[in-house]
Amino acid sequence: PRHGAVALATDSAFPVAARHGGPELTIVVPTLNERANIGLLVARLRQSLGPIDWEVVFVDDDSKDGTILAVRDIAAGDHRVRGIRRIARRGLAGACLEGILSSSAPIVAVMDGDLQHDEKCLPAMLAILQGGEAELVIASRYQSDGSASGGFTRLRSGASRLATRLARQLLKTPINDPMSGFFMLRREIVDAVAPRLSRQGFKILLDIVASSTNAIRIKEIPYVFGPRLHGESKLDSLVALEYAGLLVAKMSGDLISTRFLAFGLVGSAGVVVHLAVLHALLPHGLSFAVAQTAAMFTAMAFNYTLNNAFTYRDQRRRGWRFLTGLVMFAGLCSFGVVAGVGVSTLLYSGHSRWWVAGLAGAVVGAAWNYITNSAITWRR
Ligand code: GDD
Ligand code: MN
Repeated sequence: PRHGAVALATDSAFPVAARHGGPELTIVVPTLNERANIGLLVARLRQSLGPIDWEVVFVDDDSKDGTILAVRDIAAGDHRVRGIRRIARRGLAGACLEGILSSSAPIVAVMDGDLQHDEKCLPAMLAILQGGEAELVIASRYQSDGSASGGFTRLRSGASRLATRLARQLLKTPINDPMSGFFMLRREIVDAVAPRLSRQGFKILLDIVASSTNAIRIKEIPYVFGPRLHGESKLDSLVALEYAGLLVAKMSGDLISTRFLAFGLVGSAGVVVHLAVLHALLPHGLSFAVAQTAAMFTAMAFNYTLNNAFTYRDQRRRGWRFLTGLVMFAGLCSFGVVAGVGVSTLLYSGHSRWWVAGLAGAVVGAAWNYITNSAITWRR
């Protein structure tokens, strides 16, 4: 009957399409204001990859310089080139992840779009994976033949070495260059850990390795990290802070997330602001209740602004949404105060020690604030 015939047609057609249709390698290139580098990078990929069946996916975070237009220009005449335009989202790791997940190829690579990564390494990396020698190949800057000197300032170089040493000691990863943004792996490795990966910061490789439950067979090959041709680096001190957060998160077995740490840090700063305002207002003859209310609202606005800029910077609220977010944040946090006071009063009247009751109230309030604001104010 008709039904069976359809099933038969799909059954036989599918494996054939899977074997001859798609590329064997997807190269994911995250971009933020790299318009001037796109054409040259694609030309170099064409030259280096020769007979390999490859495609490149540029994942652009809505660059102001119109990077995606340059991508589409080339893509219109070359099926090997694709572009993903992400709007209202930021983050190198998230961009890489989205590119990898958009691929149907068995093997994916991630490389920068600013020509600092040597595309001539790609065929050798692919051969290592296809030969089964490893499941993840990292182009590493710190092996004897590799070099980071060309593309690094002295400070960057020192900080990068420190980050590497920390990662190796704390996470027990045997990788020489865990911060590398240039690697190739079997896509199924990422598929398995994707929901657990952080979408912020520059540390996607380390995150993938640290989040995998099975040991991954890794091989590193050396290369020379070149200088940037056009544009500028987006790595800043915040990226370094996020990195420290990832280390804590992974050491605690994902119990403490980077975001929660940031939220807590901002909250602690808010307490200081609160006390400072109180201290400043009280001598001016205001009643305690009025001064305390003013201090609370100042601290809330302070916390909201900082959380919006740092803790949730990948989902930052701007313009009108900044104001509506402030109202949500203040509303949810007020509820948090009530919940915290309720819990501590209950415990205290149940003969708990004063500091146990107080601490429990603070924990309940903080957890409420974090969970509800993550789910509502900065909902994904
Ligand atoms: N989509 C997207 N979103 N792309 C981004 C973002 C972002 O938020 N931030 C940076 N990029 C892109 C850049 O356009 C570039 O193609 C690539 O990611 C690397 O960014 P750079 O700003 O050039 O980083 P770098 O050269 O300073 O850092 C290099 O070394 C680090 C280790 O020290 C990179 O290889 C990093 O991946 C690596 O971790
Ligand atoms: Mn760069």
